[in-house]
Amino acid sequence: MAVKTVVRMGHPLLGQVAEPVVEFNTPTLDTLLRDMFDTLAAANGAGLAAPQIGVSLRVVVFGMADNPRYPDVEPIAETVLINPLITVIDAREVEAWEGCLSVPGMRGLVSRYRTICYAGHDSQGRRFERNVSGFHARVVQHEVDHLEGILYPRRIRDLSHFGFEEELFPEGFHCAPE
Ligand code: NI
Repeated sequence: MAVKTVVRMGHPLLGQVAEPVVEFNTPTLDTLLRDMFDTLAAANGAGLAAPQIGVSLRVVVFGMADNPRYPDVEPIAETVLINPLITVIDAREVEAWEGCLSVPGMRGLVSRYRTICYAGHDSQGRRFERNVSGFHARVVQHEVDHLEGILYPRRIRDLSHFGFEEELFPEGFHCAPE
């Protein structure tokens, strides 16, 4: 088990475009993925991008079941997504509150596309794609943004909808319905 430090907004790696993975099925990649899942679980996160633990590669992991940071959302299978590509299927936008392990304690209201198809590779280099909506689509758009050096506060259109979770939701956080 290797829980890594999650770097926070302001760290230069979080503003950089990450590099594609060119070799799959290597001990280095396997260790990175294990560290990412360990770190994600320890933080109760919904998803994590490699730059958040200091590795500038196009690798994201996500997955969720019974997560106290995100109650009331549908479960998402544990997924490794490498060199991802997103195609927008339904460009209508949905607003919901997001958080990020690199922006601890805060939430912001962000618009995301309703339905996307994402494609990429798993840890073995096998290509796969999925058509998803709702919270699943939101998580993937958020994580893939990390690979472009974009954190969710840059996606908030009205900064009056950005603040500390405990101030915004004194009764406890619940996701906006989608
Ligand atoms: Ni994030």
